[in-house]
Amino acid sequence: MAADQTTLDAIAGAGDLAALDAVRVRLLGKSGEVTAKLKSVGSMDADTRAAEAPKIHALREQVTAAIAERKAALEDDELERKLATERIDLSLPVPEARQGSVHPVSQVMDELAEIFADLGFSVAEGPEIESQWYNFTALNMPENHPARAMQDTFYLEPREGETEARVLRTHTSPVQIRTMERTPPPIRIIAPGRVYRSDSDATHTPMFHQIEGLVIDRNITLGHLKWTLETFLKAFFERDDVAMRMRPSYFPFTEPSAEVDVGYSIEKGRRVVGGQQGWMEVLGSGMVHPRVLANCGLDPDEWQGFAFGTGVDRLAMLKYGMDDLRAFFDGDIRWLKHYGFRALDVPTLSGGVGA
Ligand code: PHE
Repeated sequence: MAADQTTLDAIAGAGDLAALDAVRVRLLGKSGEVTAKLKSVGSMDADTRAAEAPKIHALREQVTAAIAERKAALEDDELERKLATERIDLSLPVPEARQGSVHPVSQVMDELAEIFADLGFSVAEGPEIESQWYNFTALNMPENHPARAMQDTFYLEPREGETEARVLRTHTSPVQIRTMERTPPPIRIIAPGRVYRSDSDATHTPMFHQIEGLVIDRNITLGHLKWTLETFLKAFFERDDVAMRMRPSYFPFTEPSAEVDVGYSIEKGRRVVGGQQGWMEVLGSGMVHPRVLANCGLDPDEWQGFAFGTGVDRLAMLKYGMDDLRAFFDGDIRWLKHYGFRALDVPTLSGGVGA
């Protein structure tokens, strides 16, 4: 028994999957037309059954196949329709107005990381809320040491059960201690980050950024420190005529200590790094104090090192010619547009680290 044309037309004419399913139920469902025929086989006499049963089974197969074919065709159509309507054009440009920019502090930190990575330094980090041990004591500034008064420290209310107030770190030097505690030498790290001091005028903000450098190894001398700083300053300011001088100074955690100046010249009424018309201080540095090494469990007879610290914001101002530090943290979109950097301009040594 072949399916009649009306049945086949009904299947082929089903316009979507739901309509097709309705046709399927009408033909093959529990009380469907084809199902009824199959059921009738049981009550046929033997001769009729021998003649009719194969035809009825063939009919069921034909109808089942026709439905499957229509279903596949409808699913193909559906996919085609989705592909045509849900297309996304990935080549569409991002609207200009939505472009952000990289803040000069982030830019300079990226430049520093790039320069020091080339010299074999990795980046270390530490918390901004510090214990007095890490911020002062381990750095050879015991309680009542006058040097603690050198920095205008923000102290936190001690928490329940705390015997000593924690502080907002006043410098990145505590990262020296944390690094020496956890990493066996040789050590070569830089540690950029936020620091806090109770101070505010055109060149001071209560929060600013420093970057610390630390090298610990055997037989490290002031010569290594001087070469490293010279190499860094030349790469950073991208001029070969960067002059540098070291002045004896005092930090409790280094001995001897030196402040580092760079030479500047006046170009179009502005201070520009390079030449030697005048000097300005850019860095604190020195050889890590033996007591600091011992505080971190290192034997000062075996290990030596140097450390340096400098203000990231100040470096940014010098390199890119801004004169008010407070503008760095105002979040004024016009300032960011003017002084910001393109997000995709990643500093590389080969391309020149500056933007
Ligand atoms: N921590 C010092 C400061 O904030 C800078 C410094 C770092 C000096 C490392 C010497 C060695 O002024």
